[in-house]
Amino acid sequence: MKNILILGSGAREHALAKKFHQAKCKPFVVPGNDGIKREFDTFTIESQDITDSFLDIYEIIQENNIDLVFAGSEQYLAGGIVDFLSDLDVPVVGPTKAAARIETSKVFAKNLMTKYGIPTAKYQTFTSTKEAIDYLDQVEFPIVIKADGLAAGKGVIIAKDRQEAVVAISDMISGARFGLAGKEIVIEEFLVGKEVSVFAFCDGEHFVSTIFAEDHKQAFDEDLGPNTGGMGAYAPVGSFAPLKQKVDTQIFAPILQAMKTEGYPFTGVLFAGLMINKGSLKVIEFNCRMGDPETQVLLPLLKNNITDICSAIINKHIDCVHLQWKPKYAVNVVLVSKGYPDSYEKGYPIEIDPALFNDEDLIIYFAGIKEDPETNMLYNNGGRVMSITCLKDTLPEAINYAYKKIRLIKSGNLRYRGDIGRRQILDA
Ligand code: AMP
Ligand code: GLY
Repeated sequence: MKNILILGSGAREHALAKKFHQAKCKPFVVPGNDGIKREFDTFTIESQDITDSFLDIYEIIQENNIDLVFAGSEQYLAGGIVDFLSDLDVPVVGPTKAAARIETSKVFAKNLMTKYGIPTAKYQTFTSTKEAIDYLDQVEFPIVIKADGLAAGKGVIIAKDRQEAVVAISDMISGARFGLAGKEIVIEEFLVGKEVSVFAFCDGEHFVSTIFAEDHKQAFDEDLGPNTGGMGAYAPVGSFAPLKQKVDTQIFAPILQAMKTEGYPFTGVLFAGLMINKGSLKVIEFNCRMGDPETQVLLPLLKNNITDICSAIINKHIDCVHLQWKPKYAVNVVLVSKGYPDSYEKGYPIEIDPALFNDEDLIIYFAGIKEDPETNMLYNNGGRVMSITCLKDTLPEAINYAYKKIRLIKSGNLRYRGDIGRRQILDA
């Protein structure tokens, strides 16, 4: 049995822990959350600063005979955990700090895509508010304004007119909105089409890509309201299966080649967010790790043993892995604190019908949640609090089941979108 250390605190890390457990491994999660802690060992780290926590993580690795580290969250990758652990000969799945820039700097990612002819929205970059505002004279609205650095999925503003664009530019470059992450910005053309997500397991040179999933980023039904970290997802996105070859040849193969050529090969899981319009593809963003909530639908559908995939990444033969998928549909609905992604109140009790934990077609994942150790009662403690994933033979069945069962989770302060996956059915 292998001991696996997973880094991160969300539902994605819970899904990873369950997947490693299924592969007969013992998962440990740093820092995890109180929901994950009900099932697996978690470790709290005192330091608030990610890089300061690396030595504590190394201590945990030694004390628990960890065989493999899997970095779930971009925060650790951005801080250089892979460089740190590799120097200490600890096997770790994830990109180096230099390779993680594909997510941690949008300017870096856009420039690399342009240099190597990878299709993406037209753009300009700015560090001067005046120059950025002057540039607005040349663009058509809506226009997309992005903070260069990490902003928890919220650093993108779609400005419908000049006035909104001016406010967004000023707030970002002044640092008022996203701090240092917004000091440099990208202004790019607004793309229309259908958005899908796909992951590639990469060993620095080769890759194998997953089926497509669709995230639902906006807070409210019909894609209204502000962008969030993700309100739910489903997979597979059946209608796009014929595009898989194109995604591999136009996106993943050239970006991996580019990163190798530039001297920072990508190892780990590369996430591509794509806009598809009449069969043509454009990259909206790359992430240097698995997407959340997409992981919560893709991992339950994946038949392969996850340790085989990790070994192939580390031993550089991922091209020999053939990914296999259950012939099912998965739907994930996220319960968030009312008010999220803006301010929200914490500390409301959550009651979950115990039957939900014994249902083979349903998985519960925990994220921003706290448990009272005396009463074992759970309370909301973050924006995205918990989620359910349902697996059924058809998409409508999976959706109906998820929405029937989610009613068995009761709390005065949680809400969820009511239309996850439904657009796909209307499109079909
Ligand atoms: P990102 O953080 O780059 O993934 O952007 C967050 C979300 O904003 C994406 O998932 C899209 O829904 C939207 N978005 C980003 N860039 C564009 C674009 N160029 N055109 C249209 N929508 C975009
Ligand atoms: N679901 C998109 C992300 O994880 O950033």
